This record gives sequence, structure tokens and C-alpha cells, in this order.
Amino acid sequence: MIPTIKWDNNCIYIIDQRKLPEKKEWLVCRTLQDVVTAIREMAIRGAPAIGVAAAMGLALGSRTIKTNNCETFRKRFLEMAWQMKLARPTAANLRWAVEKMVGVVEIMNHNTVEEIKGALKKESQIILERDIEINRKIGQNGLQLIPDKATILTHCNAGALATGGYGTALGVIRAAHEAGKDMHVIVDETRPLLQGVRLTAFELIEENIKATVIVDSAAGYFMRKKMIDLVITGADRIASNGDTANKIGSYQLAVLAKENKIPFYVAAPLSTFDPDLKNGDLIPIEERDPREVTSFDGHMLGPEGVDALNPAFDITPAKYISAIITEREILKPPYKGSIRDLFGTDVK
Ligand code: MRU
Repeated sequence: MIPTIKWDNNCIYIIDQRKLPEKKEWLVCRTLQDVVTAIREMAIRGAPAIGVAAAMGLALGSRTIKTNNCETFRKRFLEMAWQMKLARPTAANLRWAVEKMVGVVEIMNHNTVEEIKGALKKESQIILERDIEINRKIGQNGLQLIPDKATILTHCNAGALATGGYGTALGVIRAAHEAGKDMHVIVDETRPLLQGVRLTAFELIEENIKATVIVDSAAGYFMRKKMIDLVITGADRIASNGDTANKIGSYQLAVLAKENKIPFYVAAPLSTFDPDLKNGDLIPIEERDPREVTSFDGHMLGPEGVDALNPAFDITPAKYISAIITEREILKPPYKGSIRDLFGTDVK
């Protein structure tokens, strides 16, 4: 399995996912700004992976704060945390990781700056290692939903590359394959940045799992032909009622799945939940550069001056989601109750 991110020699190394699968190149980040740019420009992407990158980026950034005064350090660190939070708006994991790192600084207010910097690096490493463990648990929990032989449709990339390692949606598929189940994965190509054909297909081929790529608009055709047993995707943010933000196109898949009586599962860690949000309408949706839609590989596809809309995510209302697989348990509708049970009574 290809590693997503690592810390080596006072630098962060990120596998540049914009270049996969053609080239396996490490992008070297030496500053906080390098990591913010890598997240924003999607050299690293996928909700849990950008959480890990944010944590590591802040640990790296903290080393450039030249002061022995704890209060000065804290102020500067909070500015960095704010800058990191703005890198991409939709994934809950980014904010979750930033808040974990801020928590380290807040709790160590009687320690030296050097001690705090050491603890930040350690915390970012724990977030990475824990993410891989969590994904393996999601995989094991999801096993019971996967028949011994299944054709599974997935969208975007919710694999090892989108996480610290192993994957969420792809983690369930990986676990099923490891358990000896016969998996055939139908991979949506995932326009406009093609995470499906470039990244998911790449991971599946590496694992010797049968993969077939389709264009996004063919999903309904194959569902209607009864060629798909279930759909499984990852998530970028899950509101307290179960409404789920994920890669643009997920919503229409979920509606099509319901129409065709196919289960639609979401696999995500608890760090993807936003129990403070009442519903999915409150999830901020990232709008990306229209040129991602109107051009390909630097070449303009449409006529010069044509406009495009490019929301990176959409919201799947909870009523279309058959179950949400987490590291703790499988949540079933109605999600408001099951999410409240997980996060306590503060849930909106
Ligand atoms: O824009 P991306 O590539 O970051 O979008 C990623 C997705 O939508 C994934 O499905 C989601 O982050 C879950 S990754 C485990």
C-alpha cells in the first residue's frame, strides 16, 4: 500500500496525488504554507488525509515560531491554526485535527515552548497512526454488510490515499477481499479531477481486486441492469441528522440506488461527524476553479470564455443512506438518535 504522507528529516513528504498513477513523486513540504498549499491544490486530498496533513503541517509550522515565551508562541500558533482551517472548507476532519493540535497547546500552558513543539509532533504522529487503526476497524465492522460475492459501486477515492492508510469505503472492500470474499468494484471515474480512475483504480489493481471503471453518468444504467449489489462511499462531513457531504455526484448515486432498491452505505470515522450541525444544508460546500471543468491536462475543452460551475461536494440526505459504518459501530436510521447516542446530548 502506498503511504500518503510521512515526516522525515524535519520535512513532510506527501505523495503528490495530482500526478498519480503516472508518477509516484514525493512533494517536500518545509513550511506550514507548503502544507496549506498542498491541501488547497489537492496534492493530498480525502477528508482523513487532509486532517493528518493539517496536524503534521501545524507541528512543522510550530518549529518556525522563534520565541521562548509561551504566550507569544500560543498567539502565533493560533494564527497558524486559523490559516490551516481555511485550506479547504468542507471536510470536518481538517477542523477536527486542527482543534486537536490547538488542544495540545492549550493544555501545556505550563510547559516550555520546546516541550510543546515536541508534543505537537508526537500528537500529529498519533493522529496518523490512529487513523490507520480506525480504518481497519471500519473495515472489520463493515464486513457484515458485504455478501460473499458482490459487485460494489464506489465514487471518488476513499482509499489508503484519502486517509492515513487502508481507507474507509475502500477499507471495507479491502477487508472483504482479505476475508476471502469475491469483490468486483465498479469505479466511477469521478469528474472533474478523476480520483476514481486515477486513484481508486490504482489502489484496487495494486491489491489484485477486480476493478472496472465507468463514466459517472453510467451508474444508473448499470444499477437498472441489476449489475450492482451495493454502493459504498466515504464522507467529508456528516451532520447530526445523518445528511452527508461527499464528492460531487454522490447524491445522484444515492437517489438512483434507492430507486433501484440497492443499499447505499457510507463509511467514515467519527472525526468526520459534525454533531453541531443540525442538517446537511449547513455544511459549507467548496467551489473550485471552473477551469477544472472546462479544461483537461492544461488544454481548454470548451470555447474560450465559457463559464462553468464546480462544486467539489454535494449533500446526500440521510433518507437515502442505508447505514453509516464507523469504527465504533454501524449506524442505522434514524440517524438523529444513533448519532446522539454516539456524541452525547449536545447534538443539535
Ligand atoms: O476533493 P477530494 O478528492 O478531497 O474529495 C474526497 C472525497 O469526497 C472522499 O470521498 C472523502 O473525502 C472521503 S475519503 C476517506
